[in-house]
Amino acid sequence: MKTVLSGIRPTGNLHLGNYYGAMVNFLKMQEEYKCFFFIADWHALTTHPDPKTLHSNVKNILSEYLACGLNPEKSVLYVQSDIPEIAELYLLLNMQAYLGELEKTVSFKEKARQNPNNVNAGLLTYPVLQAADILIHNADYVPVGKDQEQHLEMTRNYAQRFNYKYGVAYFKEPTAFASDQQMIKIPGLDGSGKMGKSEGNAIYLIDEPKTIEKKVKGALTDNGPEGENTSKPDYIENLFTILKVVSTPEVVDYYNNLWNTGATKWYGNLKKQLAEDIINVTTPIRERINEIKNDDAYLHKVVTEGTEKARESARKTLREVREIMGFKPF
Ligand code: TRP
Repeated sequence: MKTVLSGIRPTGNLHLGNYYGAMVNFLKMQEEYKCFFFIADWHALTTHPDPKTLHSNVKNILSEYLACGLNPEKSVLYVQSDIPEIAELYLLLNMQAYLGELEKTVSFKEKARQNPNNVNAGLLTYPVLQAADILIHNADYVPVGKDQEQHLEMTRNYAQRFNYKYGVAYFKEPTAFASDQQMIKIPGLDGSGKMGKSEGNAIYLIDEPKTIEKKVKGALTDNGPEGENTSKPDYIENLFTILKVVSTPEVVDYYNNLWNTGATKWYGNLKKQLAEDIINVTTPIRERINEIKNDDAYLHKVVTEGTEKARESARKTLREVREIMGFKPF
């Protein structure tokens, strides 16, 4: 069976964009593939997170993953820092990673420009650690967005170089997961292209109904269409994009018709409907998140079992890699 692997840094809560862009696909993948979903807490270290909040951030994401329906009976769920084999593979793969290439990585250049006083070696070799995450399970598919494609390409380079250097066909070359339909991109409420935590325009799965109503109410609109059958400006199109994923086709048609007739003064109703339908989607998830977060015994069980499965797979890879490279026990 093909293997899918996905990692997420524990730096915030899941929002609607994560849910429709990634989670909905994960839920399908876990039925069809052998899936590894892990929380990349080592990757979060590049920005020196506060030790007081590191653990609760990991716990949040884990609770949210479980509340959304990732099933620990079907998928392997774990925390990166529980798998020391990843760190060892990272060390070994560093020998396949060249300074010039690392320095040219888009994500590295961007971070170095944003934080010129924190250009640490961990930041430079971030893609090598990511490659170790992926190759430790010899994953076939990695469901990632555009911003991660370069890291995946670097992973393939390291896999290829390793295979070539040692004359083996050991590592597979992982590819971005291509689902039949494009990954759905959920826009922000501020008229910008994409919902994101750094953009400050996100609706989170844990947001209370009141918060959601307030955020939707505050979404950018204008005075209404300037005639019949005009095209929608981006910020109005964005509201319809979200409506399409949370509402029924009838509701979407209803508001599309209003737009097309050139009527005005219905944005208030649209926003009310949109908020209500978002709340309908998020409420059961939010309730589940809060239950799971308070169930330490359950979280402990999930992580213990996930760690064991992940380490079993990781140990096997490392044993084989060591052998290929010429490490021998006395
Ligand atoms: N770099 C990824 C991100 O910022 C997170 C990540 C770490 C990851 N290791 C991974 C994603 C392995 C996929 C596979 O989104």
